[in-house]
Amino acid sequence: MSQDELKRLAAHKALEFVPEGEYIGIGTGSTVAFFIEALAQSGKRIKGAVSTSSGSSALLRQYGLPEVGLNETNGLAVYVDGADEVNHSLQMIKGGGGALVNEKVVASAARQFVCIADERKYVARLGKFPLPVEVLPHARSLVSRQLLKLGGEPELRIGFTSDNGNQIVDVRGLNIDQPLTLEDAINQIPGVVDNGIFARFPAHVLILGRASGAEVLYPR
Ligand code: 5RP
Repeated sequence: MSQDELKRLAAHKALEFVPEGEYIGIGTGSTVAFFIEALAQSGKRIKGAVSTSSGSSALLRQYGLPEVGLNETNGLAVYVDGADEVNHSLQMIKGGGGALVNEKVVASAARQFVCIADERKYVARLGKFPLPVEVLPHARSLVSRQLLKLGGEPELRIGFTSDNGNQIVDVRGLNIDQPLTLEDAINQIPGVVDNGIFARFPAHVLILGRASGAEVLYPR
C-alpha cells in the first residue's frame, strides 16, 4: 500500500470521532486533506471548523464545509491533525508543513486531539525528523545560536514564511528524550514563537493507517 493510501485509511477512520452539530478543529497537511475530503463526502453535519492554515481553509471552502474563527467558539469538541513523528505516549513532532503555531493553539482548545498518520510516523523515540521552530524574522540568528548551545544543528527553511509572517528554523540532532522539558526550554528562548514538540498538548487518540487496516491506539 502506498503512503497516501495509508493516510487515507487513517483519515476515514477519524470520522468516527467527529460528533455532529459541534465545532471541530482542523490541522494541516496531506493526511488532513484526506480527512477534509472524507468529512465532506460523509455528509456529517458539523457546526463549524476552525482551520490552522490558509491551505486547510482553502480546502474547507472547496468542499463547502463551514469555517469559523476560534474566537467564535467556546472550545472545540475534537481536533484532527497529522504528525511528522508520534511516540507511544502520543507526543509528537509537528510543523513539517509550517503550521505548528496555529496547530498548537487550536489543539489546546479541543477536548480531544485525534492524530491521524501512516504507520511510518510511529516511532520509539522522537527526533529523527528535524524539529521545526517558528521564529520572529529579526531574531533568527540569535535563536539559532541558542539552539546550537542545546546541541542542535539549525537550518533556516529557505523561501518559507508562515501564515503568521514568521520564519521556520529546522533543527537536526537534538536529544528529545525528555520532550516536555525540551519543548519548554526552546520556548523560553526570546524570539521563539513556538516549536514543533507537542508534549504539553499530546494527542489523546492515534489512528495509524496500516496495511492491515486503521488501528486506534491510546497513550501508554
Ligand atoms: C503541518 C503538520 C503536519 O501535520 C505534518 O507535517 C504531517 O503532514 P502530512 O500529513 O502531510 O504527512 O504538522 O504543520
